[in-house]
Amino acid sequence: MTRGLTTEHLPFGEKRDPEFFGKDILSVRQFDREHLETIFAVAHEMRGMVQRVGTFDLLKGKVLTNLFYEPSTRTSSSFVAAIQRLGGSVIQINNVTFSSVSKGETLADTVKTLECYSDAIVLRHPEKGSAAEAAEAAEKPIINAGDGPGEHPTQALLDAYTIVEEMGTIDGLTITMLGDLKHGRTVHSLARLLSMYDVKINYVSPEILAMPDDVISEVAAAGIEQTATTDLSTVLPDTDVLYVTRIQKERFEDAADYDNVKDSYVITPETLENAKDDMIVMHPLPRVGEISEDVDSDPRAAYFRQMEYGMYVRMALLALILGRA
Ligand code: NCD
Repeated sequence: MTRGLTTEHLPFGEKRDPEFFGKDILSVRQFDREHLETIFAVAHEMRGMVQRVGTFDLLKGKVLTNLFYEPSTRTSSSFVAAIQRLGGSVIQINNVTFSSVSKGETLADTVKTLECYSDAIVLRHPEKGSAAEAAEAAEKPIINAGDGPGEHPTQALLDAYTIVEEMGTIDGLTITMLGDLKHGRTVHSLARLLSMYDVKINYVSPEILAMPDDVISEVAAAGIEQTATTDLSTVLPDTDVLYVTRIQKERFEDAADYDNVKDSYVITPETLENAKDDMIVMHPLPRVGEISEDVDSDPRAAYFRQMEYGMYVRMALLALILGRA
């Protein structure tokens, strides 16, 4: 929630988009297609700028806090890279066991503290709804970098941007999501976000890891055709984007259930023989065996490029919410 932001003097040439300036990023539900077009256009500009000059001072003087209660490599480091490439700096809090949280401090008090020192807070936390709770407490923008099995909106934005850059468009595509659709917050956010486009979505998972009903009903309400199956081979030949996810071991209540499903799907070069030549394979990463390394050299393997697109999208989001895009 944003209250009482100071109206500082805008340097010459500085622009603020009221749709983004000072806003939290909590869920993909807060966006419409126009917002997405703005984010993708700014991300595309960031891509060009990074390729031409590497680092530039758009957010000079701005400080970002990265507050991570759950492990992260890509999300955390891409936000660090994003703010630093824009000339800003970062307070990195990774291991909250060594901070006041271990003394029993509430999430609200922790974010109220950190917003005294910074202009926005990126939060990853194991509980669904935690980002919204932090946003209630904080006046500065909160960016949800994953709230347990809830949402991961910046990942969905970078996933959609990857599709736009790689395929030219999202409309008209068939997207197949594979793996742990129950616990995977990236697919919860991505399915919701894709429902703003003219797409067909296939869900492929073991039965116990099916896409939650609330996501399916939301996507259905947007008029999107959805199919659920346990068998990838029935939907792969028509797939334009295969979005693979990890089985999320840490979110299982029963270890035996995890053991039963952990090796359900492995994408290999043989699997892709039945896929289109111009499709792409995506993965939010980390992978733990569900895509064989032999696939990496296939030009359709887009998951490493996807990480790079992620930095441009996070640069765009920071520039937009901090008011200099
Ligand atoms: C994902 C996450 O944390 O939800 N990773 C990421 O942000 N790139 C996916 C995962 O952990 O499997």
